[in-house]
Amino acid sequence: MRLLVCGGAGFIGSNFVRIRVRDHGDDVVVLDKLTYAGRPENLQDVEHTFVHGAIEDPEAAAEAMGKGVDAVINFAAETHVDRSIAEPDAFVKTHTQGTYVLLEEARRRGIRYVQVSTDEVYGSIEEGSFTEESPLAPSSPYSATKAGADLLVWSYFHTFGMETVICRGSNNYGPYQYPEKLIPLMILNALHADRLPVYGDGMQVRNWLYVEDFARGIGHALEHGGAGEVYNVGGPDECPNLEVVKRIVELTGADESIIEYVTDRPGHDRRYSLGSEKIRALGWEAQVRFSDGLPRTVDWYRDNAWWWEPIRSGDYRAYYERQYGKALGR
Ligand code: NAD
Ligand code: DAU
Repeated sequence: MRLLVCGGAGFIGSNFVRIRVRDHGDDVVVLDKLTYAGRPENLQDVEHTFVHGAIEDPEAAAEAMGKGVDAVINFAAETHVDRSIAEPDAFVKTHTQGTYVLLEEARRRGIRYVQVSTDEVYGSIEEGSFTEESPLAPSSPYSATKAGADLLVWSYFHTFGMETVICRGSNNYGPYQYPEKLIPLMILNALHADRLPVYGDGMQVRNWLYVEDFARGIGHALEHGGAGEVYNVGGPDECPNLEVVKRIVELTGADESIIEYVTDRPGHDRRYSLGSEKIRALGWEAQVRFSDGLPRTVDWYRDNAWWWEPIRSGDYRAYYERQYGKALGR
C-alpha cells in the first residue's frame, strides 16, 4: 500500500512508519508540521517521502494526499496533557480544524481514513474497563479536543458514507518518546540523578502498551477494520505511577531518595483501563508485557544519548522549568 501518515515524525507515528516499511513493504508519505515533538531524526533510518506542513493547512493536505495514497492515518496531534492545561490553543486548532481539513480532502478523493485516538476520551474509570460503547467523558483540553475530532470522524462516516476507522490506544511507551511524558522523563532524570516528580499520591493507574503493539494494532484496523467502526487498543498491564517510577529507579540503579511528591495535575484522571476484545476478535494481540517492555525501554534510552541529548539541552529545559518550577539538574 501507499500510505499517508500524518504526524509520522512523532513517537508513535515514526514507530508505525518503520513497521509498515520494513515488515509490510509499504510506501509511505509523511505529512508533519515538526512541532517540538516532531523530529526528523526519528525517521532517519526509514525510507519515506516527507511533506513539511500542518494538517490544518488545506494546501499541505492536498499536496500530501495528491501523491496517490490508498489510505490516510492521522497521528498528528498535540499530545501532552500538562501543556493542554497551560496552553490549550494549539490543541483546539490541530485536533478540530486539522482533522476537519484532512477529512474533507480524503472525502473529495475517496480515500480510506484512520484516526488515531486515545482512551482519555472516555475519562477516568474506578473499576472494570471501557468498551467502545462507553460514553465519552473527557477531562482535559487535550482529551476534549481529541473527543471532538473522533465525533467529527464519526459524522463523516454517518453523513457522507466515508470509509473511516477510529483506534483508541492506552498509554504508550518505548523508543523515541519525547521526555515530557512519564516514562522517558523518569528514565532520563534517574540516569542523571535528577529528582523524580510524582504528581499527587502517585496512585493513578495507567494501562501500559508497548508502542510497537499499538502500531501493529493500528495497521490491523487499517487492513481489517470495518467502515465506521471504533477499536480500543489497550495494553496488557495496568500499573500505578509510583510503582512504575520505583521500577525505573531499580532498572537504572538510581537511589529511591530522588523520588519527590509534587503538586497534582489539575483534573487528573485516576485510572484508565481499556477493553480490547473487539480488535482481538480481528486477530490482534499485544505481544509485549510491561515487565519486558520497561527494561527494553530503559536500555534504549541508555544506549541512544545521541537522540535525547539535543532535546535535554534545547527548548525542553525551558519547558521543564515552567512546568516543574525548577531547572533540570536541580
Ligand atoms: P507526539 O507528540 O510524539 O507526535 C505528534 C506528531 O504530530 C509530531 O511529529 C508533531 O510534529 C506532529 N504534529 C503536531 N501538530 C501537527 C499539525 N498541526 N500538523 C501536522 N503535524 C503535527 O505524539 P504521539 O505520542 O506519537 O501520539 C500520536 C497520536 O497517538 C496522537 O494522535 C495521540 O493523541 C495518540 N495517542 C497517543 C498515546 C500515547 O500514549 N502517546 C496513546 C494513545 C493515543
Ligand atoms: O492514555 C493515553 C494518553 O497517555 C495519550 O492520549 C496522551 O497523548 C499521553 O500523553 C498519555 O497521557 P497521560 O497524561 O496519561 O501521560 P503522562 O506521561 O503525561 O502521565 C502519565 C501519568 O504520570 C499521569 O497519571 C500523570 C503522571 N505524571 C506525569 C508526569 C509527566 C507524574 O506523576 N509526573 C510527571 O512528571
